[in-house]
Amino acid sequence: YRRLRVALLGAGAVGSQVASLLLRHADELADRAGARLELAGIAVRDVGAKRDVDLPRELFTTDAESLIVGSDIVIELMGGIEPARAYLLHAINSGADIVTANKALLATHGPEIFDAADQVGAEVYYEAAAAGAIPIIRPLRDSLAGDRVQRIMGIVNGTTNYILDRMDTEGAEFADVLADAQRLGYAEADPTADVEGYDAAQKAAILASLAFHTTVPLDAVHREGITSIDKSMMDAARHAGYVIKLLAVCERLVEASGESISVRVYPALVDRKHPLASVHGANNAVFVQAEAAGNLMFYGAGAGGVQTASAVLGDVVSAARRHIAGGVGVGESTLANLPIVPIGRV
Ligand code: HSE
Repeated sequence: YRRLRVALLGAGAVGSQVASLLLRHADELADRAGARLELAGIAVRDVGAKRDVDLPRELFTTDAESLIVGSDIVIELMGGIEPARAYLLHAINSGADIVTANKALLATHGPEIFDAADQVGAEVYYEAAAAGAIPIIRPLRDSLAGDRVQRIMGIVNGTTNYILDRMDTEGAEFADVLADAQRLGYAEADPTADVEGYDAAQKAAILASLAFHTTVPLDAVHREGITSIDKSMMDAARHAGYVIKLLAVCERLVEASGESISVRVYPALVDRKHPLASVHGANNAVFVQAEAAGNLMFYGAGAGGVQTASAVLGDVVSAARRHIAGGVGVGESTLANLPIVPIGRV
């Protein structure tokens, strides 16, 4: 196989799992991608920091700039705007395709990053930027490209869903469960982004931009968080047959004066019989309503290191296939040649 140089920026909850899976499944990934994905290094702020998984120490560097040069694929999992933005522009201009989970960056500087990539024929993959492991970016961008999306409604932040769920089912206190969400690797580095609804608003802006083929600026998203929700409100909701969930709602509004788009994130009362009421823990669920397709539902792990790493690695394989196909087409993978279990044995 041809070798592709992969640079990883960031080794937090998601980054360390991505590195571990890249190393552990190297042979299988090579078969899938049609190229060997060689992890050239991992750029971090502090080489000696404690990581979620053990990784070879020699891979770590603080010199992101040098690591990027000559790389075919750059995976950015540092989060935040700077220096992530500068590194991604540097990667694009050095000829790399990029894979990022950085919703804050895409929701605020998406057009700049996409334009820079367009100019040099690079591709930006960001399946992990919304709803963790759930495939939602490709369905909106590709599978539904021939349809007209009318509405997206869902739970797109795992941390707040985990907190609200435990407040509802155990009568737990907000502060205690937030600490657990941080320990479990669901929360952002600064959990204010989760509990104040910024993270969900960023994801809503990204999803609405894709669904409605436009750029929805972050400041056009109405945002309310969950910090004002207390035990008495949860109890009152429960007694009335509801559960409180942080929802993201993106809608195409059709009025006599023309079409417009509304995107909002707010804690809502959800009827206990509604499927969204059964989304527990750090799971996410996204309903998409499209003119021809009708109603679609996407459900799964919305946060968590290894779960989100799945979406990142899918993007890395896509980038590698495109790379070896010379920038066009999707490439081909080698069949795994696994034995077929006769019907009746499973
Ligand atoms: N902090 C985010 C969440 C991580 O809780 O959903 C996944 O984007």
